[in-house]
Amino acid sequence: MLITNIKGLVGLHPKEKLVLRGSELDYLPILENAWLLIEDGIIKDFGEMSSIPSQISNLPSQVLAKGRYVFPSWCDSHTHIVFAASREEEFAMKIQGKSYEEIAAAGGGILNSANKLQKATEDELFQSAALRLKQMILQGTGAVEIKSGYGLTTESEIKMLRVIRRLKDQFPIPVKATFLAAHAFPAGFKNNHQGYIDLIINEMLPQIAEEKLADYIDVFCEKGFFSVEETDQILKAGAKYGLKPKIHANQLSVSGAIEVAVKNEAVSVDHLEESNEETIETLRNANTIVTLLPSCSFYLGIPFADAKGFIKAGLPLALATDYNPGSTPSGNMNFVVSLACIKMKMFPEQAINAATLNGAAAMELSGDYGSITVGKKANLMITKPVPSIAYLPYSFGESLVDQVILNGKIYNG
Ligand code: NIG
Ligand code: FE
Repeated sequence: MLITNIKGLVGLHPKEKLVLRGSELDYLPILENAWLLIEDGIIKDFGEMSSIPSQISNLPSQVLAKGRYVFPSWCDSHTHIVFAASREEEFAMKIQGKSYEEIAAAGGGILNSANKLQKATEDELFQSAALRLKQMILQGTGAVEIKSGYGLTTESEIKMLRVIRRLKDQFPIPVKATFLAAHAFPAGFKNNHQGYIDLIINEMLPQIAEEKLADYIDVFCEKGFFSVEETDQILKAGAKYGLKPKIHANQLSVSGAIEVAVKNEAVSVDHLEESNEETIETLRNANTIVTLLPSCSFYLGIPFADAKGFIKAGLPLALATDYNPGSTPSGNMNFVVSLACIKMKMFPEQAINAATLNGAAAMELSGDYGSITVGKKANLMITKPVPSIAYLPYSFGESLVDQVILNGKIYNG
């Protein structure tokens, strides 16, 4: 496939650049008035229209992108899209002023989702998650991470992970699976935390490893959920099966989650709506990626993370949706990028880099995805005609993704 007359080809990072740290996020390489050649699903070459080689200029399969930008697909590195039911009843409670913790304590929250998921069949869960994933892809997402964590029993955690594997087998984008049984303590283990942790370690992990159902392990390390010591124990058990950590950290309070994550060589720490100098110091000497989820702050009304502080400290920062029924009922990466600019004061270039190359890095996929680079997979989006790249986050809430290309083919859902 040949795409011609492209107004701007965006995100031309060199192959060896696998993650962007600090001020590197400021630079988003763009080639104006360009062509792009895709062969066998791979980006083969690109250049300026003025010097398009004559042997390719009359290839049969061509897309004319006049006035449009071509971006690498969004890489959404943090989602919980396998769930049985939405939770808009909690929406009203939130509007009345109840906090996330209060709703959870009143029997809502994660345990509410777990009750419903335990009753759903694998097929039902697959059907509903597939619809969500299709919608996300049509909005420009071309690589995704999906977590378990609404099962909370061996059977239901495995059911969720099998659904994720089916999504991976049936969708033309890379899907990474994260095991998140340590999302909340089930009611029966409220006063027996170690009992549930033993179940995770002795029963769930061996089965998941046996079926190769997960790439990562996650823990919701937070007051009222999993303590630092409990997190450490679970991460160490996961490491025995080769599962690297991606952690829910500092969402509601500064808890020591960052330290335990870094100590266990986490690929990413996610949320960080709460942070302090120590958080930054701990991360400065690590390879761990900071993944921010501004739609979650927007929906819950909690603080937005200090993106500028993390960038100033030279840290690698990614953006993701956190799509889930409780804290972020949206899988729209375009909105995430808008919020990052509007509420966290990131520049459009920084936000786009964080939502593409660094999102891919937070799933260890940046060797093949996340930028327009010769040799990488052709997972791309073509915008509607827009005046500039800043117009995308500026024009918040509008869908400006016109065409989606996955593995070099147009995707229509
Ligand atoms: O990332 N914080 C933990 N997990 C989700 C919310 C889960 C839920 O409320 O169902 C999150 O925000
Ligand atoms: Fe989450």
